[in-house]
Amino acid sequence: MEQRVVRPELLDELDSNDPAAIRSRRDLRVINRLMRGEQWIVNQLTPMRNITRVIELGAGDGILTRKMHAARPDIAITAVDLAPRPPDLPAGIKWLQKNVLEIDLACDGSTAIVANLFIHHFDNDVLESWSTKWRDAGAVLLAEPYRSTTSICLGWLMYPFVNHVTRHDMRVSIEAGFRPDEVQNLLGNNWKWEAGRNFPGSLRCKGVKS
Ligand SMILES: C[S@@+](CC[C@H](N)C(=O)[O-])C[C@H]1O[C@@H](n2cnc3c(N)ncnc32)[C@H](O)[C@@H]1O
Repeated sequence: MEQRVVRPELLDELDSNDPAAIRSRRDLRVINRLMRGEQWIVNQLTPMRNITRVIELGAGDGILTRKMHAARPDIAITAVDLAPRPPDLPAGIKWLQKNVLEIDLACDGSTAIVANLFIHHFDNDVLESWSTKWRDAGAVLLAEPYRSTTSICLGWLMYPFVNHVTRHDMRVSIEAGFRPDEVQNLLGNNWKWEAGRNFPGSLRCKGVKS
């Protein structure tokens, strides 16, 4: 577990209407509730009065997007995912069904880049390139898997309750996850970073313009 290992996740390769994908997205909602990364992001974002725009990368089912919209309806949110726009997403939220590697969105000091359980999908060289791509953002909020044997063991406890896609992707995600200083080292010094983790294996990284 010394180094990150990035391997493909099954959910990314399934059609979003495939029953196994639907079930795995449901599992993810339970895992998200346990890991509390989404709530951490909302709690950090809510008092950031200088932020008026959010770009959420890998927004999945749009759960975090909805929570951010409810907490800060004044923020213009653009959510990006390979998956189609979730039904019933509030009309004010912009949804881009795109590969994040192919988007070119303007960003400035009033923009926060946000992702929950997403940036671990990418190799270090991609993440290093994001230090330039997103360098003007006023804030970066990321909740990602903490890479450790303990996280793997905690994941095993979920095995009876989740499907084969989630079992596979959980292990792959943890192996591609991060230790506290790694995110900061990859995304660079454009922001002043704080990193911490909670017991169920969630790493939280907050970067703000110094
Ligand atoms: C582990 S899920 C996390 C979803 C959501 N953030 C959550 O916490 O429930 C990863 C998401 O990333 C999306 N995804 C994977 N690779 C992507 C890419 N290159 N561009 C955009 N979305 C991508 C998948 O469609 C999936 O919804």
